[in-house]
Amino acid sequence: MKGRFMKETLASEFEKLFGEPAQIFAQAPGRIEFIGNHTDYNGGYVMGVAIDKTIMCALSRRDDRKLCFGSIKKGEKVFVDLDRIVHQPRSHNWVNYPLGVVKFLTEAGMKPDCGFNMLDISSLPAGAGLSSSAAIELCTAMGVSKLYNFDTDLKTLIRVSRRSENEFLGMPSGILDQGTSGFGKANSIVFIDCLTEEFSTLPLPDKCRFWIFNSTKKHALVDGLYAERHNECAEAARILSEDGEPRLLRAFSMTDLEAAKMKMSDVVYRRAKHVICENDRVLKTKELLEKGDIKGVGDMLYASHESSRTLFENSAEELDFLVAESKNYPSIYGARLSGGGFGGAVMALTDETFDKRQAEQIARAYENRFGKAPTMFSCAAGDGAKLA
Ligand code: GLA
Repeated sequence: MKGRFMKETLASEFEKLFGEPAQIFAQAPGRIEFIGNHTDYNGGYVMGVAIDKTIMCALSRRDDRKLCFGSIKKGEKVFVDLDRIVHQPRSHNWVNYPLGVVKFLTEAGMKPDCGFNMLDISSLPAGAGLSSSAAIELCTAMGVSKLYNFDTDLKTLIRVSRRSENEFLGMPSGILDQGTSGFGKANSIVFIDCLTEEFSTLPLPDKCRFWIFNSTKKHALVDGLYAERHNECAEAARILSEDGEPRLLRAFSMTDLEAAKMKMSDVVYRRAKHVICENDRVLKTKELLEKGDIKGVGDMLYASHESSRTLFENSAEELDFLVAESKNYPSIYGARLSGGGFGGAVMALTDETFDKRQAEQIARAYENRFGKAPTMFSCAAGDGAKLA
């Protein structure tokens, strides 16, 4: 759904549901994890791409102290007391994404002086590994701060959104999703130094395209497995820091890791090796992009996937199949799992000759093997969060 049409539809649904026009519209995009797998919460480097698929929210002030969240899809309204923000039960879990943001805006000193009505609309497929949760969080943060005229900046809104994901939703994720959704720029890749939280962009080479192949597989334990990887990385960092200040994995080299190998389990060693080498791959990818060596970039993407498959063990048979299949197409530079892993999506970096027909061939091969077609689409690098 295109921007203008999305806004018109949302405006009219809002009036229908709340009987008054919306006062503020804000939008935030989904993201592709370009390279830098599980490096963000280890204080490392990562590159993401904001895509041209977004979530848009509409808001109006209320004259009481209720927060009213509407859902077009569910045709329902959920009310929460502004002065008593608590985690909502499973049946209303969708409310927790914007709600946590309000809680942490308040904790950061940005207190709404009255309640609001809120409704959103999306062109971003949920559950495709494109971080629709960060998009809803960030567009809420942006819309709410405009509605009450809070004096704030993008980095603060990104941090508040991440805090909500970590502490309200309970996902110990890093800054990649909210940071990319915030600092994305059309035709650009976002580079993040997750330790200093510095964001910059690099131009995406002219003739590149992205294709997403969503395996539609979701590991039942995906959240638990993400947290388990997080803990294994923390354990490696703890062992490596034994003789000094506690530091994140980002601070260590392969020489440090080899020297400490005997002090850790094989699993912890392999997780740390993935992260340390992945940080190097991100820096190498940056250099290659700056030199215009797209083939080299593609090789980095394949190497990243291989490391996920063998060392970090966050891939899945379905994702490995899609990546292996992509190697049959010279118009694909590289492909890898994108995001947390254990299912989800593969992203492929292609040249402009790769087309729907070829994508369908990959989908057919996948269907022959797994009995179910992946969902797939191409996307472009779009702008980050903004008022709409
Ligand atoms: C998920 C998290 C991100 C990041 C990736 C893995 O998408 O939300 O913060 O850790 O997994 O790189």
